[in-house]
Amino acid sequence: MYSDTVIDHFKNPRNVGELEDPDGVGEVGNPVCGDMVRITIKVEGDRLAEVRFKTFGCGAAVASGSMGTEMAKGKTLEEAYSITNRDVAEALGGLPPEKMHCSNLAADGIRAAIDDYRARRGGSPSAGKEVG
Ligand code: FES
Repeated sequence: MYSDTVIDHFKNPRNVGELEDPDGVGEVGNPVCGDMVRITIKVEGDRLAEVRFKTFGCGAAVASGSMGTEMAKGKTLEEAYSITNRDVAEALGGLPPEKMHCSNLAADGIRAAIDDYRARRGGSPSAGKEVG
């Protein structure tokens, strides 16, 4: 059974689509099922001003994309980067165990978009840590 929150975010997903001229793009596939998500972000200062998602995924992936982007919007890059699939699933009021992997798409996609933003700016893709 899905929570009311999951059903709400599936029926009325927030932040769907793609930003024009994004500052970062994250595209990830789910190794469990092969579904995909594309996240685009706009960064202002150190914060995610806008986050959008498109997914070729199941209903739980749509709900996770909607909730994950809502959670990430307005956060600092560091805060958004630390959002886990478990955080997204918990905010949705839980997901059935066999659907937990679906929440990976949103969290992984947001991290990939932030990595891309940092790479474009010539930074390290590993959460801003210095390497080498
Ligand atoms: Fe693939 Fe849910 S079954 S994301």
